[in-house]
Amino acid sequence: MFDTTALNQQRNFFDGHADIWLFGYGSLIWKADFAYLERQPAFITGWARRFWQGSHDHRGTPDAPGRVATLIRAQGEVCHGMAYRITPDVLAPLDVREKNGYLREKVPLTFLGQRGDTQSEKATTEGLIYLATEDNPAFLGEAPLVDIARQIAHAHGPSGSNKAYLLNLAQALRELGSEDAHITALAEQVRSL
Ligand code: BEZ
Repeated sequence: MFDTTALNQQRNFFDGHADIWLFGYGSLIWKADFAYLERQPAFITGWARRFWQGSHDHRGTPDAPGRVATLIRAQGEVCHGMAYRITPDVLAPLDVREKNGYLREKVPLTFLGQRGDTQSEKATTEGLIYLATEDNPAFLGEAPLVDIARQIAHAHGPSGSNKAYLLNLAQALRELGSEDAHITALAEQVRSL
């Protein structure tokens, strides 16, 4: 299996920073199994969340991969998620966990809520995401929604069922008041199978 761990250790965009804002748009929204200093709902623009990345190690197997979230460039789109303020040592275990194709990337993010400028009630900063682009070997890409739903409904891996990953994400976005049409439609398809 391709392994991005070593590549990510070179991607030190925030070297010398005491803390880093990590933007979660997938499992990180509902499963933050790392220490963080604070968290805040946030969004990034110009990106769309899609279940286009294969999972051979967490929500599927090499023989029957699952599908997990990545981001696709999409002008005018807004992707909501959760930003975590972390210390830099948190990244190394995440690099290992997300080694199947994800690379650290730097993005501008905007906080929702009270942080920053009190007039507009929002503020922006540079944040970090884990991104799986189309040139990584585990990338599966676009497919009809029903085919993606069937694949998710049947896949299981060491971290659990692919269905639970999707439904937890759909619920977390609903609870944030930031539903995502692609995720909602996919969750409905999977439930109806
Ligand atoms: C996230 O939830 O932001 C995430 C997605 C894929 C890999 C790592 C993190």
